[in-house]
Amino acid sequence: MASFPHYVKLNNGARMPIIGLGTWQAKEGEVKVAVESAIDCGYRHIDTAWAYKNEKEIGKTLKKVFDAGKLKREDIFIVSKLPNGGHHRDKVLHYLQQSLDDLQLSYVDMYLVHSPFSVVPLDGNEQLPIKDGKLVIDYEADFLDTWKGMEDAVDAEMTKAIGISNFNSEQIKRIYDNARIKPANLQVECHAYFPQIKLFQICKELNISLTAYGPLGNPSLSGFLRENFGINAELPNLLKDPALQDIAEKHQKTAAQILLRWLIQRGIIVIPKSSNPNRIKQNFEVFDFNLSEEDVNQINGLDRNHRLFEYSGVEEHPNNPFNIPF
Ligand code: A2P
Repeated sequence: MASFPHYVKLNNGARMPIIGLGTWQAKEGEVKVAVESAIDCGYRHIDTAWAYKNEKEIGKTLKKVFDAGKLKREDIFIVSKLPNGGHHRDKVLHYLQQSLDDLQLSYVDMYLVHSPFSVVPLDGNEQLPIKDGKLVIDYEADFLDTWKGMEDAVDAEMTKAIGISNFNSEQIKRIYDNARIKPANLQVECHAYFPQIKLFQICKELNISLTAYGPLGNPSLSGFLRENFGINAELPNLLKDPALQDIAEKHQKTAAQILLRWLIQRGIIVIPKSSNPNRIKQNFEVFDFNLSEEDVNQINGLDRNHRLFEYSGVEEHPNNPFNIPF
């Protein structure tokens, strides 16, 4: 079998590993084990964010790995994200510096604007602050101004590349058309029930790489929404889809491996989250088989146009990215 590329080339010339470790929802104490296990089995890309509150633990773990001589800084690709409360040019370097201090790094490889919706931080909640049942929107902010701060971060050598997350096609174009430094990456929800065909096509035309979050359809999401927001959402379990299970059995792989392989065969970067060393290893074992055209067509046919990730209060935001199909 021909060797399969482990990287996606970015518009700044860098190579971004096509599989990264996702760390959203990784609990304190678990992150260290997850990062160590991932590095040991070959991951060279860690995805985190200011908002995940785990950058300190990741930083300590990376320091241990570097001090032990297992890896050098340039061997690993680190992604972090600007919180929604940081949507002003002069706030970008402030939040990025906090992430760098916590990660114990002098630069990240990619810094993303976490989402287009700007908020006024409240009680330490920089992501989705709710007051009187409503999202506290920062109407003064404009993400083009934020983007200038992102470009400042490249100039200051605090990040090698910049990108966006949760932006829709119109918002991406607005950034792209006005940017001095073009976005190198878009990170959005993407999996077999929500395959982002059109958005990915637009990204390819603009030479923006795409990272899929929730590539496994996040099987723990309904529990998370219930526990944290009291939302009872009936979400489909993608990993249990019978068609995927059949394909998995044929290749003697798991449904998770089939989903990841299908995405990377499309040229999409994936960041499956796991805190379990066995599943972390399993999610990386996707370079030793190939999905046939028939398999791919079958998985393409699972598209339900079903967005799983909801962001409470965002419907009223003028920059709600989810009010158009893509
Ligand atoms: P855990 O951390 O216990 O492994 P996604 O990346 O799509 O958001 O999904 C993350 C969720 O999927 C987490 O709850 C994670 O649980 C679970 N998960 C990760 N890898 C696998 C796998 N190979 N098989 C089953 N569940 C997985």
